[in-house]
Amino acid sequence: MSKDGSISASVIKRLPRYYRFLGELQKEGLERISSRELSERMKLTASQIRQDLNCFGGFGQQGYGYHVDELRMEIGKILGVDKHFKTILIGAGNLGKAIATHINFETRGCNLIGIFDINPKLTGEVVGNIPIRHTNDIESFCEANSPVVAVLCIPKANTQAIADQLVNLGLKAFWNFSHYDLSIDYENIVVENVHLGDSLLTLTYATNIITSTDTDNSEEIE
Ligand code: NAI
Repeated sequence: MSKDGSISASVIKRLPRYYRFLGELQKEGLERISSRELSERMKLTASQIRQDLNCFGGFGQQGYGYHVDELRMEIGKILGVDKHFKTILIGAGNLGKAIATHINFETRGCNLIGIFDINPKLTGEVVGNIPIRHTNDIESFCEANSPVVAVLCIPKANTQAIADQLVNLGLKAFWNFSHYDLSIDYENIVVENVHLGDSLLTLTYATNIITSTDTDNSEEIE
């Protein structure tokens, strides 16, 4: 934790992983876990785990470890998964439909209540129990339902304009999948840009490193 009491970004970044692992432990029926066992599963050091969780008041007990349900509930509260933020998705193409269908929004604190697309041919099609609405209806829908989070699955060129419109309609958070690094110059608006391609490039880099070493070795042997 920093001097002003705020939690460091690196700790916050690890919380979803703690939350996910603890969920898996719950499914296994585990009631408690020591920081050593948790560290072995998560490939983090036990002291890292203690340090991280101490930022929020500890939760663990000497000689007992962590109570799985309690710790997951507390981390969930910190993450805000109990808030059920109303969420809309813009762009019901291949990616938008996959996200609407395969991501469990509710367990992550978001409640998907509307899907919009500019293509009139998609209007009325149902994706994961939600009918696709035309983008012409975004304004009236937002006025009636006050969504907070928007998932953007639209082409790059349209992203900034849609985001600006949604900010004016009161949306506060953007989970942006379009290939555009969205930045919004308003206070109290948050953006999470997601680029699966960047993740693949990170893997490509690591693959390049290990295979270059292999090549070097094999050349030496030959
Ligand atoms: P797609 O062409 O299947 O779907 C895009 C949808 O957005 C279409 O249904 C279209 O009618 C709609 N649309 C376009 N402008 C709109 C607007 N102003 N308002 C509402 N709807 C609008 O494309 P796909 O495959 O679903 O990809 C969507 C975007 O996500 C693309 O820009 C793609 O490059 C990007 N992408 C990003 C990834 C990532 O890791 N961030 C991974 C894959 C795709």
